[in-house]
Amino acid sequence: MAHQSDLIASDIEAYLKSHEEKSLLRFITCGSVDDGKSTLIGRMLYESKMIFEDQLAALESDSKKMGTQGEALDFALLVDGLASEREQGITIDVAYRFFSTDKRKFIVADTPGHEQYTRNMATGASTADLAVILIDARKGVLTQTRRHSFIVSLLGIRNVVLAVNKMDMMHYEKAVFDEIVEDYRAFAAQLGNGEVPFEIVPIPMSALKGDNVVEHSAKMPWYDGPALLPHLETVSVQATEIEKPFRLPVQWVNRPNLDFRGFAGQISTGVIRKGDRVKVLPSAVESTVKSIVTYDGELEEAIAGQSVTLCLADEIDISRGDVLCEAGSPAEAANQFEATVLWMSEDPMLPGRTYVMKSGTQTARATITAPKYKVNVNTLEHLAAKKLDLNEIGECNIAIDKKLVFDPYLENRDTGSFILIDRLTNATVGMGLLRYALRRASNIHWQATEISKPARAAMKAQKPAVLWFTGLSGSGKSTIANILEKKLSAMGKHTYLLDGDNVRHGLNKDLGFTDTDRVENIRRVTEVAKLMTDAGLITLVSFISPFRSERQMARMAMEEGEFLEIFVDTPLAVAEERDVKGLYKKARAGEIKNFTGIDSPYETPQNAEIIVNTVERSAEAAADHILEVLEARGFLS
Ligand code: ADX
Repeated sequence: MAHQSDLIASDIEAYLKSHEEKSLLRFITCGSVDDGKSTLIGRMLYESKMIFEDQLAALESDSKKMGTQGEALDFALLVDGLASEREQGITIDVAYRFFSTDKRKFIVADTPGHEQYTRNMATGASTADLAVILIDARKGVLTQTRRHSFIVSLLGIRNVVLAVNKMDMMHYEKAVFDEIVEDYRAFAAQLGNGEVPFEIVPIPMSALKGDNVVEHSAKMPWYDGPALLPHLETVSVQATEIEKPFRLPVQWVNRPNLDFRGFAGQISTGVIRKGDRVKVLPSAVESTVKSIVTYDGELEEAIAGQSVTLCLADEIDISRGDVLCEAGSPAEAANQFEATVLWMSEDPMLPGRTYVMKSGTQTARATITAPKYKVNVNTLEHLAAKKLDLNEIGECNIAIDKKLVFDPYLENRDTGSFILIDRLTNATVGMGLLRYALRRASNIHWQATEISKPARAAMKAQKPAVLWFTGLSGSGKSTIANILEKKLSAMGKHTYLLDGDNVRHGLNKDLGFTDTDRVENIRRVTEVAKLMTDAGLITLVSFISPFRSERQMARMAMEEGEFLEIFVDTPLAVAEERDVKGLYKKARAGEIKNFTGIDSPYETPQNAEIIVNTVERSAEAAADHILEVLEARGFLS
């Protein structure tokens, strides 16, 4: 996998090198086939006469080799930023096309326009400098125009071309064009609370007839603006990135010999010169730039978009994930944020579940709270939400396990964005935009207590442990846990049994059985188990705990070797047959919803320390077996 990526990366480099003197414009086309999008793209590619078909074909076959679906997607994904971290499980359908004229080179992201493709559009938009929003002159501003424009503004695209297409079918009438432009401006102002959040260049055209695509059309003498391609060739989008404060997310540390230590990465924003002061975040240590090194030798200065290696005047500790910043205007570092999250997975975003967060070269573990609201992407309405489903966009709080160096997204699209990855499948499940840091946790300090966990454990003459029983309702978890606890007590061990049914009467009485509630149920009991273990107890936890992700979270919350997962492996048919509490009967009759094993999933453990078969073994024998394992692992000595 890695070497194939390298292959593609070197192809990109070769491609960019051969056109180095020309600037690159990335843009996205928003619209549907009916609007004439394919015709327009086809015409631009045709007219430019410099399509890199062979390259594209090669890259397509490479991306197929990588086992992903998105045509030349991976090629483009490797080009940079947000999307570049997506490696596995890609089902996102964005076609990237490359073409070039003698003035500029282009990467156009072509994504399907329907609502169910919101995640694709957002993926394409996340790396675009400009959006071409297509409107059918016969239809004017539609729901989909609003949706596309919302995503464009959400992802911080500052340049929009409003391509009013099919003017030929409206007799090239100025009034038709003017009315659509006016409508659109009025709508766009709503996106930015009264202020249009991007520059709009409206162009009347006919992609089919070629009017105002490449050359100014004689059919619309009343229009005195540019045709589309000349506009794309000359529009300036880079300037703003260069004016922003300097940021270089460190990709790797170069140390070929003892005299040379450089920090390599791509400059995200700003300009850096020899002698400039830089501040390294999160450590906040400062130094001065001694030299700027590239493959082609040393530079006096480098700008946004360039890949460089910086050497500093002082020996300071810097590693991958750190960000070099302009000393006078550094990024921030925080561990709680308000963020806009776009969900990209079929499995919903569950508040309380832990995901892996990647922002540039930084990685952290993240937990998201219930959305404050989700946005109806067609009407911009805010709606109440408990979770986010595929293609939904919501405003959430997010907490991570360390300090993340960041800028608000609207100030920096690299250091202000992140992706979320499922920890078990490694699939990218969401993307997010950081709004601002929440300071609440920074005012609560960890209170150091003087009697330690080892001291408390020593007083009890035992090694604390978490014995985590998981299995279907009626599988026998609580029965076995009960017997085991009695045996441990008889041996003089100090224990506590946390049982799902009991904890749900108190601490968790506000929770039901939706996926979201079950995640929260397990999160809370994990915290309680952690405190009990800290108190030196052998803690038995008996909860269905149906999801792998939360059981993994519980495991990670404890010290190494402290957590033992005990899978009480009773087949559904057997548990249902026993039906000790009569709940299966009710569930089958439709009286109880979301019942585990019936209409709510149970994810079988894959790495349980102990598996108990209750068909072959009695509860008593199962408890003895667990005792043997505890003995062997040194918990009973
Ligand atoms: S968990 O899934 O969130 O871990 P927990 O172990 O706390 O579940 O609670 C499960 C117990 O609640 C079951 O043993 C059963 O007695 C009861 N119960 C009531 N409704 C349901 C349901 N829909 N699904 C599973 N258990 C239920």
